[in-house]
Amino acid sequence: MKFEKSIIKTINQRTSKRAYKNLEIESSKLRKIKQILKKEFIGPFGGKSRFELIDCGINDPLVKRRLGTYGFIRGAHYFIIGILEQKERNIVDFGYCFEKIILKMTELGLGTVWLGGSFRYNQFKNCTNLKESEYIAAVSPVGYSLENPKAYEKIISWSIGSRKRKPWSKLFCLGDFSTPLTENIAGKYTTALEMVRIGPSAANKEPWRIVKEKKSNTYHFYLYFDRKQSTDNLPPMKQMDMGIALSHFELTVIEQKIGGKWIKKNPNIDTTRKNLYYIASWIGE
Ligand SMILES: Cc1cc2nc3c(=O)[nH]c(=O)nc-3n(C[C@H](O)[C@H](O)[C@H](O)COP(=O)(O)O)c2cc1C
Repeated sequence: MKFEKSIIKTINQRTSKRAYKNLEIESSKLRKIKQILKKEFIGPFGGKSRFELIDCGINDPLVKRRLGTYGFIRGAHYFIIGILEQKERNIVDFGYCFEKIILKMTELGLGTVWLGGSFRYNQFKNCTNLKESEYIAAVSPVGYSLENPKAYEKIISWSIGSRKRKPWSKLFCLGDFSTPLTENIAGKYTTALEMVRIGPSAANKEPWRIVKEKKSNTYHFYLYFDRKQSTDNLPPMKQMDMGIALSHFELTVIEQKIGGKWIKKNPNIDTTRKNLYYIASWIGE
């Protein structure tokens, strides 16, 4: 996907928007969005996803009412629906692709918010051309958000702690999980890591942990999850969060003309009793 403005600015600008103006998106912009969503989306590890735009109809309160978000979203009548094949195991790639779309919408001046849980699944399903083999993994409203968020939106944001982020020392390490990584040592990767740090995550849990190798610009991405039982699968929402981290990191290094590529090769850094699960590595120059 091509970005026309600075991705660093766009990542900084994006915040979740839950209250929307009762305003149509202009037809030229709508065409652009449809064009963007039309193609097949493939993440860095081959995971495929697709996206649909649905219009609940500005003048059709019945249609509008059908789309429930448990009151989390007010006034939106366009939604982007993120769709996966049931057999698709690569949820990280889905998060990676959807976040690029979210950032593109931000670049177009439109508000969004990731919704992984607070939407009525069957109501959205009925508005979507879903195949039997597919399911909706997440959705986002898209539209012109209210400049001054309503009190309820401020309350949601405050109760999740949306504005807060963990400091570098809790997220980024050098060599293993015992030495914090400083901005000084991260050098030209400082901004890419910062763009990961300020990214959105489900319930603002920020599950990303990153270890830089001591003697190279290799960065290993891990998911932090307090697994209660060894049989628990990694929660899909946290995997989406990891996809967001990968996309912010990659888009930033591309903008900064730093070369590199993703691989999946567990470096076997000691994670004993740390609830950390290896996801992917960036091999950078
Ligand atoms: C995978 C994912 C799922 C999310 N699901 C919901 C949701 O169901 N309801 C909601 O109100 N916000 C949801 N959010 C939005 C987060 O609460 C929000 O991104 C986070 O609090 C950080 O705030 P910010 O986006 O304003 O920076 C989700 C975010 C992500 C990344």
